[in-house]
Amino acid sequence: MCGMADFLVTGGAGFIGSNFVRHVVATTDATVTVLDKLTYAGSRESLAGLAENRVTLVRGDICDAELVNQLMPDHQVVVHFAAESHNDASLSDPTPFVRTNLVGTFELLEAVRRHGTRFHHVSTDEVYGDLELDDPARFTERTPYDPSSPYSSTKAGSDLLVRAWVRSFGVRATISNCSNNYGPYQRVEKFIPRQITNIIDGVRPKLYGAGRNVRDWIHVADHSAAVLRIIDQGRLGETYLIGADGEKSNQEVIEAILALMGQPADAYDQVSDRPGHDLRYAIDSSKLRSELGWEPQYRDFSTGLQQTIDWYVANEPWWRGQKAATEAKYAVVGR
Ligand code: NAD
Ligand code: TYD
Repeated sequence: MCGMADFLVTGGAGFIGSNFVRHVVATTDATVTVLDKLTYAGSRESLAGLAENRVTLVRGDICDAELVNQLMPDHQVVVHFAAESHNDASLSDPTPFVRTNLVGTFELLEAVRRHGTRFHHVSTDEVYGDLELDDPARFTERTPYDPSSPYSSTKAGSDLLVRAWVRSFGVRATISNCSNNYGPYQRVEKFIPRQITNIIDGVRPKLYGAGRNVRDWIHVADHSAAVLRIIDQGRLGETYLIGADGEKSNQEVIEAILALMGQPADAYDQVSDRPGHDLRYAIDSSKLRSELGWEPQYRDFSTGLQQTIDWYVANEPWWRGQKAATEAKYAVVGR
């Protein structure tokens, strides 16, 4: 096993976790242990090129209490990204969502309670349910929880566990709830990389329903920087919402991708809608900005999108192996 490391990053071989590890390596002197089960959503390749004296990968399950307890004394801070993260998958089979998101978070909380380790829990704005399209409101830290899907309900449950462990046992934890991320290393099952890789393959992008649903997009690099800021300067026991004022309808996003990739604006297909499809998410991140001075670097969506498209074009070996199996799963449900 590794020696003393600064961060234990669960889910660090996934999309946001691997970007966070890269951010830590690039901006600090800290060392990182990644604890990751390497499910279909995790891959060693997402950590390729990182120095071995800075980052160590331990393949394992956050539900494995013995392993988690064994790792704990060697780390100062646990940053908890590991989760089953895809809404469509949670509709096909909720079982791993309940296990990893709820039981896994519980095991980590028990371990940090025992060892007195600082804990940061990474969560989603989807715990708040959805907003009407014409509602001027955005989610704040005081919005009541009202999750819709097996994914968001298990994330909501994990947040509540963290809050209870803070209050009942004095666990030193913070929570962040972020809006939809995009950027390098995102699995091609998710909306933006699915459409980019479809276009590369000469396949028309797939829009669920009428495409009026709104997501509040943030570049993953901005999310990573916010999480590190909260770990460094956040108040213990507090929740911080992370968002970059990036509301866009799904149709607008598809049209932006088509334009940047030199395709006609109407070169996409409408497919059947997702059951229970949340209408709109929108984040008010003023607490994070005013208390901790965080600001997003990617303010212009088309700049971040172009960087992301360039990454998928340049890194086909990273995503090619996922593509056929992902599309086969969508074909089963007609999306
Ligand atoms: P992802 O699916 O890309 O990665 C999840 C990682 O967790 C994978 O590497 C996987 O192998 C690992 N994992 C899964 N089950 C595990 C287990 N039982 N034990 C150990 N490792 C396990 O997810 P992501 O998009 O990077 O999301 C990371 C976190 O951020 C999640 O908690 C998610 O809820 C949250 N989040 C995601 C978004 C988004 O837009 N993707 C937005 C806000 C919050
Ligand atoms: P997704 O990336 O799955 O994230 P989430 O469900 O967590 O918001 O989907 C983002 C939005 O894009 C959501 O409204 C569903 C929609 N969508 C499509 O229109 N087509 C697609 O092929 C996919 C995967 C998603």
